[in-house]
Amino acid sequence: MITAQVSEPNHFLLTGATGLLGRYLMKDLTLAGVPLAVHVRPNRRFSAQERIEAIFGYWDQQLGKVLPRPVVLAGQLGEEALGMEPGDIRWAAENCTSVIHNAASLSFVSTGRDSEPYTSNVDGTRNVLRFCQEAGIYNFHHVSTAYVCGLRSGLVLETELKEGQVYGNPYEESKVEAEEMTRSADFLKSHTVYRPSIIVGDSETGFTNTFHGFYAAVQLIYTMNNHSSIEKQYTGHSDFYPGRVTLDGSEGKNLVPVNWVSEVMSHIISNSEHHGQTYHLTPRNPVLVRTILAVMQSAAKMFGSQLAGKDIDTGTATEIEEFFYEHIRVYDSYWRNDPTFDSTNTRKAAPHLPCPHIDYEQLLFLAKQAIKMNFSWRDKLVKRDKNKELVANS
Ligand SMILES: NC(=O)c1ccc[n+]([C@@H]2O[C@H](COP(=O)([O-])OP(=O)(O)OC[C@H]3O[C@@H](n4cnc5c(N)ncnc54)[C@H](OP(=O)(O)O)[C@@H]3O)[C@@H](O)[C@H]2O)c1
Repeated sequence: MITAQVSEPNHFLLTGATGLLGRYLMKDLTLAGVPLAVHVRPNRRFSAQERIEAIFGYWDQQLGKVLPRPVVLAGQLGEEALGMEPGDIRWAAENCTSVIHNAASLSFVSTGRDSEPYTSNVDGTRNVLRFCQEAGIYNFHHVSTAYVCGLRSGLVLETELKEGQVYGNPYEESKVEAEEMTRSADFLKSHTVYRPSIIVGDSETGFTNTFHGFYAAVQLIYTMNNHSSIEKQYTGHSDFYPGRVTLDGSEGKNLVPVNWVSEVMSHIISNSEHHGQTYHLTPRNPVLVRTILAVMQSAAKMFGSQLAGKDIDTGTATEIEEFFYEHIRVYDSYWRNDPTFDSTNTRKAAPHLPCPHIDYEQLLFLAKQAIKMNFSWRDKLVKRDKNKELVANS
């Protein structure tokens, strides 16, 4: 049992700080003056502390000033007391009043309940809740997903969770279980849920450090265009691949830039009058599939795809169509029209922060930035001299 000996505790403990959303939350919450501690696992290249230092090095360079660093607590979500050292456990119990539970596995495939995404999302969330209860941390901010609605269609409300929906993949199911668990944690005094839809890169810089979903599709056709041997056998043109897409183009997908999601969350987190609600972090208007396809073709310079509707006879699939669908199968559940996400709570809490509209130009910019990054990102330690001036990447 961890005993809290509290003088003036005020830190927020953030999990998943090294991920795409987590690194924006660290920056925005720090800029908003929120005292932060972060729970981080080491990786093969860096210790927990170095991982956070590398991310802050990036932010220092972007902002042209040195930001204050959060307290780093090394650990693993899957272990008892989140795998933290006894001294760190004591520190958290004495200094943290809130948790922002953002860490999750985004794996859409699973080999069973004792593997991802269930271990991080369900067991991990259970461990975080147990840690909060034992450490006396009673304010909980939980990052869920708009797709807890599974394969529902029509209007989805922020107040709804389990409505008899069918899940599109194990990730959705694991996030429903996690959200449900946090809702039924009676010891919490305040429980706030954030449900972003599909997060893409920064609308201003194009930055992303992960390349799921939209990016995975861009990467696939970009790679096909550059390496495929299938190409010229059809037309003799290296950038023309006739292929039928099994959608009609009028379907909408709810893409949201990471900087906006983080900005809205940081506003809600740092204003306690907004706590205790569920927030759909979704755009005013979804992007149409025909726009997404046009962007992909233009960014990857691979033309010829046609929107053929979902009723085409798959028995007649060409070699190139089979190749594409084989590699994109993991996203089958997203190959549909999204439901309409009601975002009344979000618009009320943050009327001054409308979601930037993702149009053709914006999406093309994001796709081109990802191509420029070669669909990969490695954090680097940034050297600082004695006067804490920024020097250069190592
Ligand atoms: N990306 C989206 O489109 C999207 C949409 C809706 C909701 N969300 C939700 O938003 C949150 C953040 O997602 P993201 O896009 O930022 O994901 P991400 O880039 O993949 O980051 C995931 C973070 O969780 C950490 N993590 C995962 N499993 C862990 C474990 N077992 N122990 C400790 N840390 C663990 C990762 O640590 P490492 O760096 O050590 O791997 C990383 O910091 C998640 O809750 C996700 O479900 C994401």
